[in-house]
Amino acid sequence: MEKILDEKQQGNTLVMEPKASNNRKLFIESYGCQMNFSDSEIVASILYKEGFNTTQNLEEADLVLVNTCSIRDKAEQTVRKRLEKYNAVKRINPNMKVGVLGCMAERLKSKFLEEEKIVDLVVGPDAYKDLPNLINEVEEGRNAMNVILSKEETYGDISPVRLQSNGVSAFVSITRGCDNMCTFCVVPFTRGRERSRDPQSIVEEVNDLAAKGYKEITLLGQNVDSYLWYGGGLKKDYKNASEMQKATAVNFASLLKLVAEAQPKMRIRFSTSNPQDMTMDVIEAMAKHRNICKYIHLPVQSGSDRILKKMNRLHTRQEYFEMIDNIKKLIPDCGISHDIITGFPTETEEDHQDTLSLMEYVKYGFGFMFAYSERPGTMAERKFKDDVPEDIKKRRLTQIVNLQQEHSRYNTKKYLGKTAEVLIEKESKKSDAHWSGRTSQNTVAVFPKENYKIGDFVNVKFEDCTSATLIGVAVGYSDNY
Ligand code: SAH
Ligand code: F3S
Repeated sequence: MEKILDEKQQGNTLVMEPKASNNRKLFIESYGCQMNFSDSEIVASILYKEGFNTTQNLEEADLVLVNTCSIRDKAEQTVRKRLEKYNAVKRINPNMKVGVLGCMAERLKSKFLEEEKIVDLVVGPDAYKDLPNLINEVEEGRNAMNVILSKEETYGDISPVRLQSNGVSAFVSITRGCDNMCTFCVVPFTRGRERSRDPQSIVEEVNDLAAKGYKEITLLGQNVDSYLWYGGGLKKDYKNASEMQKATAVNFASLLKLVAEAQPKMRIRFSTSNPQDMTMDVIEAMAKHRNICKYIHLPVQSGSDRILKKMNRLHTRQEYFEMIDNIKKLIPDCGISHDIITGFPTETEEDHQDTLSLMEYVKYGFGFMFAYSERPGTMAERKFKDDVPEDIKKRRLTQIVNLQQEHSRYNTKKYLGKTAEVLIEKESKKSDAHWSGRTSQNTVAVFPKENYKIGDFVNVKFEDCTSATLIGVAVGYSDNY
């Protein structure tokens, strides 16, 4: 926490001036996407000013906040289980207050207060600046809620408190919300319409991280390629922007360049790309700047044109292949990963085979694979019957998981005998004599520690691998950084 006190006013970044008596304890935990983890750092920053220090110990907390995910039913069940645990602790410590943040808060709103008696506070993803007022309400014995979605809020003026950080890599959020309306997805309902953050505040945050010794940042958004700054406001209102605003607008490729050139000694990553919004100038910017990592997470969801259309993914299988070909042409060693859903309504065996053959074409480095989970309120829930039986969804899921494992092994094996740069992030989970880091392509690599330290860029020669991890020895510092 001391670090925060040193923070100087930078542009429109708030100076942290903690209350004199910083003696209240906040226990905050996050589920779901990287954006939630990043949001929790914003929440911790807002509450630090209110006199809350974070604790890892649930039993000693005055305030417990859980940042929740609604993307699949299972994610919501996990949170419900955690609430049971908080309930048990609250029996010992009745003064402890419990708040629910994030997508479940937005989706369930006051239902949470009715269904889960333990919950005192419900706050949606755009209302975190209201937390100080809401907490006052709760302390006066009333339940409190704010689930209003915003047209402007990007938290660009908040300097996040880095939680459980390795001091090497950090998330920097660049957009909030999503306008894409994929029919299976609850995010547009829980996180609202898309808006972009001022590029100046993004660059300032990145500069600040560099000054603190961070070596890698990930620009975060539900759909980063759609980033568009024209002075603030919703993306969908861009058409009403003035000529001046349009002439000076900053898109994602320009933002990438800005950040990469501001900090040439930092690695730059980004997530998530949607194929329908990714443009050639993004791929060109990646190819041109050495410090932009050669890795793209490019979810496809399905390999069947019929299913892609029903999902409202606005590209065809052929267009996806063309994008992959372009990436490989400009960046031959680019790592590519995916998200795929099995068992979307009406998915046939033939559609499933299309997904498997698409995977064969791309040969992804890795991926995140899910069985379709119907989400209340989405277009798919309203229009289509969830008609693929669970056992078939699971069988198809197993098939794509197995195929992915083959492809992961194929990709890691290509590196055997070769040398690549690795940024050291932490000790290997399996051995305290080894470091663990990632290559530019986002493959995990482990090697003996020798005299290297966390945060070093090291060239590693790879001698062995599992399907997902490269194993090697360091051959010296990388002279790139
Ligand atoms: N904005 C990101 C991802 C959002 S959610 C993108 O454009 O890809 C992350 C992943 O969860 C999605 O890519 C999708 O594969 C999966 N997902 C989303 N809704 C789902 C649902 N209803 N059932 C199963 N998986 C889902
Ligand atoms: Fe969801 Fe599609 Fe947006 S998956 S987050 S609606 S790009």
